[in-house]
Amino acid sequence: MHFLVLNGPNLNMLGIREPGIYGPDTYETLCDRVRRHAESRGVTVELYQSNHEGDLVDAIQRAYGTADGIVLNPGAYTHTSIALLDALKAVSLPAVEVHLSRVEDREPFRRQSYVRLACCRTITGHGIDGYLEAIDHLCEVVPCK
Ligand code: DQA
Repeated sequence: MHFLVLNGPNLNMLGIREPGIYGPDTYETLCDRVRRHAESRGVTVELYQSNHEGDLVDAIQRAYGTADGIVLNPGAYTHTSIALLDALKAVSLPAVEVHLSRVEDREPFRRQSYVRLACCRTITGHGIDGYLEAIDHLCEVVPCK
């Protein structure tokens, strides 16, 4: 099984950006932990991060026919992007929405998520562990290959 792990704007700034909210770990640490967890589950992952909405749409489209599922943290595009929602609907792959922070307990505008409408699960507030839980969930819902 192969999963795309997609991160949106400013997630490359982890470790520097608002550590009180997002924690002290860097994006490299996130990637290492996701890769190690995937290996332990016997699955492969492609990690991709972009600050650009169109790049994220392209990455979701590339997953069609190449990946079995998608883990995504669209960052601020969560709350604004119908294009990402449409891309997820277009490829129709099982997708899990992950947020490092508990978005539901923050500013009211963070409670809106468009991508959620095309995701089978949402995990918030578990930090990097949330990505590992998302991989576990995909391993359960994606039929064996
Ligand atoms: C985030 C939450 C979003 O509201 C924010 O814009 C981010 C990160 C999270 O992981 O908690 O960039 O997706």
